[in-house]
Amino acid sequence: MTIKPVRKAVFPVAGLGTRFLPATKAMPKEMLTVVDKPLIQYAVEEALEAGIEQIIFVTGRNKSAIEDHFDIAYELEDTMRARGKSLAAIDGIRMEPGSPVYIRQQEPLGLGHAVWCAREIVGDEPFAVLLPDELMVGGCLRQMVDAYARVGGNIVAALEVPAEETHKYGVIAPGAEDGRLVGIEALVEKPAQGSAPSNLMIPGRYILQPEVMRILDAKQTGAGGEIQLTDAMAQLIGKQPFHGFRFTGDRHDCGDKAGYIQANLALALARDDLAPQVRDFARALLA
Ligand code: G1P
Repeated sequence: MTIKPVRKAVFPVAGLGTRFLPATKAMPKEMLTVVDKPLIQYAVEEALEAGIEQIIFVTGRNKSAIEDHFDIAYELEDTMRARGKSLAAIDGIRMEPGSPVYIRQQEPLGLGHAVWCAREIVGDEPFAVLLPDELMVGGCLRQMVDAYARVGGNIVAALEVPAEETHKYGVIAPGAEDGRLVGIEALVEKPAQGSAPSNLMIPGRYILQPEVMRILDAKQTGAGGEIQLTDAMAQLIGKQPFHGFRFTGDRHDCGDKAGYIQANLALALARDDLAPQVRDFARALLA
């Protein structure tokens, strides 16, 4: 089996972000900041650190702030230079000319449909998918790419959550364990409360083979009447290697208000320039 490298990553960013209204009325939810960086930048940096060469955004109307964020900001840079200010804070955002690629989903038909919209750009090679409202600390995709180099096929990140939370996610029916890898017997999107096959959910990081696009061609709908990526992946089980991967590091669900606040606190407390102040006022608030 030759294992083709993962060079491309798809970022579905067309979602309306209704859970964060009014913040997301005129601003993409992916531009919500954790400390001083938008969510989308954390995910893009995670991908680049994992060796991804091509960034593909599946976007929609009202998302132009994302395009501007990954472009050169001439006026800003000129003004900062003229004032003798360091450009270090925005240096990392610069992309190669012609990258990222932006395509539009047009209609919100589900995560599977968003990924399928990238089929022509992905072509006939494996690709990663990163959901930017899941903020990973510790290089989740890097770890998955390393595991992929050994086993190939399809790999999804896997994380234990309390049983009361499984109905919000894609859930794995786990098979044999092999270190951090776990076999997958079945996948269920948003199982009804009490019916999940396990507590092992998929926190938005995927390495997939291009065949999943052929399954998504059928535009079959599932949970919530949407075209679900989880359902398309489920059809690959038994046909291609398919593993869950228990990554190390922290995960913050920034699609959820409490998770988003937790991310801000945790990342602020991890920074030398902010931690003392934040610790002090958190203590005072709780007292
Ligand atoms: C999506 C996926 C789900 C996954 C989750 C991670 O759900 O469909 O399988 O577990 O992201 O956050 P959504 O959050 O879009 O409802």
